[in-house]
Amino acid sequence: MAVEKNRVIRFAVVITVLLSGMEACVYRKSAPVAEPLAVEGESVKNGQIHFMHHCQKCHPQGEGGLGPAINHVPGFAKRFQIRHGLGVMPAFKKEEISKKDLQDILAYLKVLKDNG
Ligand code: HEC
Repeated sequence: MAVEKNRVIRFAVVITVLLSGMEACVYRKSAPVAEPLAVEGESVKNGQIHFMHHCQKCHPQGEGGLGPAINHVPGFAKRFQIRHGLGVMPAFKKEEISKKDLQDILAYLKVLKDNG
């Protein structure tokens, strides 16, 4: 009876070791599947900072959140919406987002769209 029990335990150990070995082959561990978004250039980086600060909470990654998805909206319409805030979105005046920062946000959104 004791011998029988030992064999069962040994069998269980072997199976466990085999399975854990297989697992290591099957799963990709911590390697990202997609390349991270290449945010290059001073303007785009600055745009990202301002987007994260002012827009991300409602338009996460330019997608719909509290606000609608904005990736498909043309540049001039984005600019108008940012300055005038139609509907329930707040308006952002020059004191909050300078002309250059607005330009950079649009450049960043273009990168998001092109990579989306
Ligand atoms: C407090 C949440 C909030 C913040 C912050 C915000 N938005 Fe919005 N945004 C909205 C909502 C809600 C709408 C829809 C407006 C409506 O029609 O009532 C909207 C609409 C838009 C639209 C028009 C979408 C369309 O389909 O016409 C654009 C473009 C846009 N936002 C860009 C931005 C950008 C860029 C920023 C940062 C400068 C920003 N928003 C910040 C909530 C927000």
